[in-house]
Amino acid sequence: MRQAAHDLNTDPQIEAPAQEAAGDEPFVPPVPRISIQAFCETETTANMLDVASQDRRLGRAHVTVQMGGVDAAVAFYGDAPTPNLIIIESVLQGDAMGADLGRLAEVCDAGTKVVVIGHINDVLLYRELMRSGVSEYLVAPLEPLSVINSIGGLYQDPDSEPLGRVIAFVGAKGGVGSSTIAHNTAWSIAEGYSSDVIIADLDLPFGTAALDFNQDPPQGIAEAVLSPERLDDVLLDRLLAKCSKHVSLFAAPSSLDQVYDIDPQAFDSVLNVARQNVPNIVLDVPHIWTGWARSVLLAADDIVVTAVPDLANLRNAKNLLDLLKQNRPNDRKPYILLNQVGMPKRPEISAKDFSEALDLDPVATIQFDPQLFGDAANNGQMIQEMSAGSKPAETFNHLAALVTGHEQSTVAKKSILGPILEKLKRKKG
Ligand SMILES: Nc1ncnc2c1ncn2[C@@H]1O[C@H](COP(=O)(O)OP(=O)(O)OP(=O)(O)O)[C@@H](O)[C@H]1O
Ligand SMILES: [Mg+2]
Repeated sequence: MRQAAHDLNTDPQIEAPAQEAAGDEPFVPPVPRISIQAFCETETTANMLDVASQDRRLGRAHVTVQMGGVDAAVAFYGDAPTPNLIIIESVLQGDAMGADLGRLAEVCDAGTKVVVIGHINDVLLYRELMRSGVSEYLVAPLEPLSVINSIGGLYQDPDSEPLGRVIAFVGAKGGVGSSTIAHNTAWSIAEGYSSDVIIADLDLPFGTAALDFNQDPPQGIAEAVLSPERLDDVLLDRLLAKCSKHVSLFAAPSSLDQVYDIDPQAFDSVLNVARQNVPNIVLDVPHIWTGWARSVLLAADDIVVTAVPDLANLRNAKNLLDLLKQNRPNDRKPYILLNQVGMPKRPEISAKDFSEALDLDPVATIQFDPQLFGDAANNGQMIQEMSAGSKPAETFNHLAALVTGHEQSTVAKKSILGPILEKLKRKKG
């Protein structure tokens, strides 16, 4: 079995992802754009993971391997966000391993998966760990391909939640700064959590995402939604423009050569492919009301509505909130953000009146700052790059924490391996 796995890795004839080509060999799926951090206890496992991280099937993922096992992981994540996947090696047995993993549970963010590499082939331990929220228990020594296979399998299970969360940004009116806020929040997610983000610019004729990131990319999103049946992870790679280590752009054509009367189903298919491939998808939804714009908003995991403090924005924001509440009764309320506040000589509705009328407090208020925002737009830079400590930069970081679920860390951190902790507490009691 191990020899077979090794052959699969090196035989150029079976590069293509097809079961038939490999005969009896298992097809090892490529791993999506996740971040993986491994904490090993033995050199053998660390070396094996180093080899695995060089494999083409892990080419999209960001992998780091270090020593120190659970102790190092607990110290590391005490004040750092956890990645999509932690691989932890433990040489302990039974209850001792459970207790060790309990310490990890306390610092693990919701949504992080944990794979344990142990040295004991024990079915009872395996079952106990799986029941406790561990995603997989593998027994060393391991071959690189079998580890990659297990990781890939975690993200291919049709019954489990899809990898990617879709966060839609929309303006209560045109020109209120919704795209600027979408792009900067995406940047904060990528930089703050080392987590991959696709920004999909849905403003096909007029989108500015490519300008904001100083890119001259392929017209990715148009190609995808005009022939959604062709989109798979390989084509997705080709259509995305890489803006930074963790940000990729699904850019709009931004030309008037054709009109875009797109079938709502097309966006659905495209977003499904994106969800399987990347942990965060930021949708820059234009201020229009078509069948597809409505269905994209209703299907998002989280929605951020940007408004400036005037009457038309208030009316539109209220209508949007009512519609979303009616159609998404079981979802979190959208986040309302007041932008361009304090524009000289413009009469404004106060934040208090705004929130009373909407029965929802704005998540943040961003002041009108034409110098900072104008410079960023003209230079193709993010606000964080121009002015990292500024209030708008902090607001984008805060918004990134909220939409990725990192903000409620004390509740969420205990949820993934919570059952282990509970069990330990009961034992101690
Ligand atoms: N707080 C702010 N202060 C000053 N200017 C801002 C602020 N926020 C955004 N802007 C500027 O407002 C303009 C419009 O922003 P943006 O394109 O992001 O808005 P939009 O809501 O996406 O517009 P559209 O309806 O065209 O899609 C840009 O020039 C941007 O730099
Ligand atoms: Mg826009």
